Amino acid sequence: MSAVPLLELRSVSKSYPGPTPVPVLREAHLSIAGGESVAIVGPSGSGKSTLLNLLGTLDTPDSGSVWFEGRDLTGLSPKELATLRNRRIGFIFQNHHLLPQCTVLENVLIPTLAAQRSAPEEAVARARQLLDRVGLGPRIDHTPGRLSGGERQRTAVVRALINQPALLLADEPTGALDRASAGEITRLLTELNLKDGLTLIVVTHSAELAGLMGRAVELRDGQLVPLNRA
Ligand SMILES: Nc1ncnc2c1ncn2[C@@H]1O[C@H](COP(=O)(O)OP(=O)(O)OP(=O)(O)O)[C@@H](O)[C@H]1O
Ligand SMILES: [Mg+2]
Repeated sequence: MSAVPLLELRSVSKSYPGPTPVPVLREAHLSIAGGESVAIVGPSGSGKSTLLNLLGTLDTPDSGSVWFEGRDLTGLSPKELATLRNRRIGFIFQNHHLLPQCTVLENVLIPTLAAQRSAPEEAVARARQLLDRVGLGPRIDHTPGRLSGGERQRTAVVRALINQPALLLADEPTGALDRASAGEITRLLTELNLKDGLTLIVVTHSAELAGLMGRAVELRDGQLVPLNRA
């Protein structure tokens, strides 16, 4: 483990404004080292997706700070945050958000359009290699409507990895899947963490998936509490 955490929340509070404001995080703390795998658990509505959005710079705290690779993200411009996100962070959303009119290959290449760090042919080669690795080689020309739920989710995993992020954030990656497909995604995520050293933060209701992560924290009353596991 490196001395500087990959990701840190320092006393982060967040509520959604409105006639009755919804407090979600209350001075929450979290520190995650590079290479860790962490499950985030908690009941529906406890704020897990909100937390993931803050960790992934898609949202900003009302107070407190989020640190990534030793840098305080408070005060970075939306453009700076977008660049950081695009280069260093991969997302697998609660709903996969694949573009229905694009093929598997086109969908996974979308994040490379903004990054433009490598020649397009390199990005395509990497996309093909990753899609092969997750067993989607024969499906690259399919649109999402012609994929199974598990195949769609695997496509979303590859899209999250295409820019070689340091951190992968996954919101219920197995939530909508049958047992076999959930098993495939679980294996893929744990392999990416163990073999490739990808830091993994997974929101999940699955005790099986949570049990495979290095540790688990529970979101309870707006704070992150270590979960003791048998
Ligand atoms: N944009 C928003 N505006 C107002 N309230 C919101 C907004 N997004 C979420 N909330 C509220 O904030 C709380 C936390 O929502 P969040 O989506 O983070 O929960 P969650 O733990 O991910 O739930 P689930 O397990 O159902 O996905 C909920 O009570 C929700 O109703
Ligand atoms: Mg959620």
